[in-house]
Amino acid sequence: MDSILRRRPRRLRRNPLIRDLVAETRLSAAQMIQPYFVGEDATGRMPIPSMPGINRESVDQLVETIADDLTLGIKRIMLFGVTERKSARAESAYADDNPAVRAVERLRRQFGSDLFISADVCLCAYTDSGHCGLISGDDIDNDSSLGVLAKMALRLAQAGVDWVGPSDMMDGRIGAIRDALDQGGYKNTGILAYTAKYASSYYGPFREAAESAPQKGDRKSYQMDWRNRSEARVEALLDIEEGADVIMVKPALAYLDVIADLASSADVPIAAYNVSGEYSAVKLLVREGLAKEPDLVLENLTAIRRAGASIILTYHLRDILKGKWLA
Ligand code: PBG
Ligand code: ZN
Repeated sequence: MDSILRRRPRRLRRNPLIRDLVAETRLSAAQMIQPYFVGEDATGRMPIPSMPGINRESVDQLVETIADDLTLGIKRIMLFGVTERKSARAESAYADDNPAVRAVERLRRQFGSDLFISADVCLCAYTDSGHCGLISGDDIDNDSSLGVLAKMALRLAQAGVDWVGPSDMMDGRIGAIRDALDQGGYKNTGILAYTAKYASSYYGPFREAAESAPQKGDRKSYQMDWRNRSEARVEALLDIEEGADVIMVKPALAYLDVIADLASSADVPIAAYNVSGEYSAVKLLVREGLAKEPDLVLENLTAIRRAGASIILTYHLRDILKGKWLA
């Protein structure tokens, strides 16, 4: 007898066919959403320097980009509007010429049900303060922000989104938006709630892309404190009670424990946002020759799925499909 080992886990790692057979987690483009930035000032495609491969685009350009992306296999998108028209009460958030609203109208007309469209609902790109809610005195005022968020969500629903994605973190916004959608006749428009959105340093590149950095102060009085985990369950309970169809954790990679927690405690699908800073960090490592991009991206996204997210918002989707990394 040359061995006393009866259990040898390595038997299941012997070759690629066996490894694929026993893999516990799989990735599919059907679970991924690609974010886009649409700006009224944009002419054509304006690269975002900190996010190689990601652009801010005019409405016309966006329609062309998405036509190409559809042929690649990107069928699900999240839209962010960027505008210069900022004001104290964020009126342009729900105006007819909000670039996101105009883009949704065009995309829906052009692509019909071939394209799943979600759009971000938040005020930070539209307030002169750059905060996600309206200012009153020294405060980001919760309750007066709700009506504006609800108007913005309703306007996007009228334009034709499948889902709205409120990312503002005001208390009660999911209920306010659900009511506005229902009363406006949009009972089938879904809500992807940014439920556990942390006050993170990983949003840096996004704020450059969306021109949405706060002029003064930070977002710590509304976004979650990254020392907290149970608090995410409170946010999840509230959002689900108020009518969220899907709840999201953001960022993703430093918050896998939170994703796992919500996946085991909540009965709605869990989404995770693989945010701009996570994307840029990958691009920097690859640029420095410290990692192979397909391996690093798939490891990150698989970790997010393994933690329990069923939906991933990621800027990497186009590269994944172009490079056929999932094949
Ligand atoms: C705005 C918003 C942010 C992101 C999505 N919506 C940034 C922020 O809260 O400052 C971040 C997305 C990313 O970093 O990719 N409410
Ligand atoms: Zn915001």
